Amino acid sequence: MSILLTGGAGYIGSHTAVSMLQAGIDVVLADNFVNSSPKVLARIEAITGVRPTLIEADLCDREAVRAIFRAHEISGVVHFAGLKAVGESVAQPLRYYRNNLDSALTVLEVMREFGRTQFVFSSSATVYGDQPAPLTESAQTGGCSNPYGWTKFMIEEILKSAAAAGPQLSVVLLRYFNPVGAHESGLIGENPNGTPNNLMPYITQVAVGRREKLTVFGDDYDTPDGSGVRDYIHVCDLAEGHLAALRYAESHTGCEVFNLGTGRGSSVFEMVRTFGEVNGVDVPYVIGPRRAGDLAAVYADPAKAQQVLGWTAKRSLADMCRDAWNFQRRNPNGYE
Ligand code: NAD
Ligand code: UD1
Repeated sequence: MSILLTGGAGYIGSHTAVSMLQAGIDVVLADNFVNSSPKVLARIEAITGVRPTLIEADLCDREAVRAIFRAHEISGVVHFAGLKAVGESVAQPLRYYRNNLDSALTVLEVMREFGRTQFVFSSSATVYGDQPAPLTESAQTGGCSNPYGWTKFMIEEILKSAAAAGPQLSVVLLRYFNPVGAHESGLIGENPNGTPNNLMPYITQVAVGRREKLTVFGDDYDTPDGSGVRDYIHVCDLAEGHLAALRYAESHTGCEVFNLGTGRGSSVFEMVRTFGEVNGVDVPYVIGPRRAGDLAAVYADPAKAQQVLGWTAKRSLADMCRDAWNFQRRNPNGYE
């Protein structure tokens, strides 16, 4: 039996593939490469010694998804596939709603046709909107500030309804905080198209000389040093959280939600400082205005994942900065 990783060629999917293969779990990856490269497969093989099946498919294409379930014994699905750029979702809302909702619905319907019940979903802390941290899973969701966030909220609601109507279903919603870093080998990592929207890839591209300087989006927030505070989590810790979620799905039905974060907030200035200290490189920056839609402080209460899944993030901010830089340095132009 295999686990289907939709969007498995992407940043989090590829790291999860490595964690699962190293745990002896067989995986099948499906991706249309809208935001990734098939070249990641050789990297996964170099790390694990296993070359998993990678299928080029659009998860909105029902026949293509059926073909995957016909060809492979899929026992469960981790659904990473989705578009994730916040600004792009504001400019192209229909594309975001179509792709993210349609792919989730199509995979779920085909799973039902094939009698498959375990579904782990990549959700986001963005579903909490503007609420005081630390955020527990029982905090209200909704109030998202962009279409990307609403797709996560809507898919969560779809999954809750589906689990309520089908008692055999086993759904785990994972609300990621801020995934950063890369596999310690430096072979796989984050490889954004175009100008990075997120802080860590921007920092690494400044450090490697692809960009001149970082702009810190506001230093007048109500936080200890005035810059925005987030819960950065090492992507390998996040990947391991998916193993724990799958184990949980195997032995429970219904719909359960977990934060995947460290519980520790770090500011933009702390990130820049730590990155510089750990890697011995300078990250020039200027202070700019706040970014529209940004919040002052967002971090998790990760207690539920620890208590119920037995999972906790182990890697430090220094590990995240070191591994992100190691990948960027070895792959200045990503996988190309
Ligand atoms: P990513 O873009 O690297 O990976 C997503 C993958 O899905 C890509 O390889 C892309 O090509 C693929 N994809 C998109 N639509 C598809 C479709 N219709 N058919 C087939 N493949 C398709 O992003 P990531 O950072 O690895 O994120 C994985 C998931 O986690 C996404 O759903 C994202 O929204 C969610 N998430 C990410 C973050 C983050 O900061 N990276 C935070 C919270 C949630
Ligand atoms: C962003 C998204 C959010 C998504 C999350 C994870 C927005 C408004 N929000 O959140 O929906 O779930 O990524 O993918 O885009 N920063 C700078 N300079 C930069 C980039 C970022 O100062 O060039 C600051 C930000 O203001 C913030 C922190 O760094 O305080 C982290 O930013 P980012 O990595 O974009 O993550 P989020 O803001 O948490």
